[in-house]
Amino acid sequence: MSPNVRIVRDASLRQRNTFGVDARAPWLVSVDDAAALPDALQAAPLRDGLALALGGGSNLLFAGDPEGAVLELSGRQVRVLSEDGERAIVRADAGVQWHGLVLQSLALGYAGLENLALIPGTVGACPIQNIGAYGVEVRDFIHAVEAFEPGNGQWHRFDNAACRFGYRDSRFKQAPDRYLITAVEFALPRRAALKLDYAGIGEELAAMGVDAPTPRDVADAVIAIRQRKLPDPAVLGNAGSFFKNPIVPAAQADALLAAHPAMPVFRGTDADSRKLSAAWLIDACGWKGHRDGDAGVSPAHALVLVNHGGASGAQLLGLARRIAESVQARFAVPIEPEPRIVGARW
Ligand code: EPU
Repeated sequence: MSPNVRIVRDASLRQRNTFGVDARAPWLVSVDDAAALPDALQAAPLRDGLALALGGGSNLLFAGDPEGAVLELSGRQVRVLSEDGERAIVRADAGVQWHGLVLQSLALGYAGLENLALIPGTVGACPIQNIGAYGVEVRDFIHAVEAFEPGNGQWHRFDNAACRFGYRDSRFKQAPDRYLITAVEFALPRRAALKLDYAGIGEELAAMGVDAPTPRDVADAVIAIRQRKLPDPAVLGNAGSFFKNPIVPAAQADALLAAHPAMPVFRGTDADSRKLSAAWLIDACGWKGHRDGDAGVSPAHALVLVNHGGASGAQLLGLARRIAESVQARFAVPIEPEPRIVGARW
């Protein structure tokens, strides 16, 4: 076996998911160099030829134990592949910490990723759910995604269009585990029009005393807002937003707005749809700060489920189901989980 591969049997995943729930992997395979992947996968028992790739474990809920091997790609190289004075192509290995890449790209003088500061997780995970925050999605800056397909042993390079990005969605999310993402290339401009229109950013910059913000200032404002609004997973287990903001027909949004004038309504995916705020709907059902034993809803943000210590994944999932049922009963709006649920069906 290559020195770039480490295999542990019956490994605890508690430190490897930001909910901090107890789960065990029959095999945990760590691979430093993606070139060793085919070899590593030969050595581990897969489930239907598939392995669950774990990044920062910040967007999944272990509602049960994973059945086959769990794979960690730990390569951490970042390289500028090309630069023409206007923009650079920056390639990062899957194992690079996302927030580290954001800070590094800003320090190198590239703009674009500032609104995505402080999102937990790794570069390899960022395309899967097309991470987004404060008016920016990572799809806006992804040039290509490199991936290995264990099912047929092929290597792929998907350009931006081939990734089929949508709101918290991509081809990788649609076919779980089919592709193991090994590296991502980003196209980053030297100058970018800053996106300051999302609620809170302008106010935060003003409070910081900044009137001509740089991309780094915007990142600092986003960091401050996130630290205030979202519980730190290192302190209180959570996976960020637990539900996606639901997209509903415009007519349904209009009817709800007439009944609830304070309800936030955002642009949908087309002229006939609108995006509602799952946080607002859940809050209106009285869930904020609710606690069932150690499974709870953050007192700071209604969209964030939290583990107060000893909650199991099944308990968190049970709470999530009750929340979704109450939103459905009160508003007739279905809400769906954003994180991946392992070991159970939604
Ligand atoms: N709101 C409430 N109650 C709350 C919190 C929020 O009513 O407890 C209402 C507020 O009226 C607010 C609205 O919900 O105007 C939206 O809240 P927020 O700006 O916090 O954004 P969000 O829609 O809840 C989304 C993303 C977050 C991202 C923020 C900022 C999704 C599922 N979530 O949350 O992403 O950080 O916008 O851009 O799209 C994540 O994906 O894990 C995540 C944290």
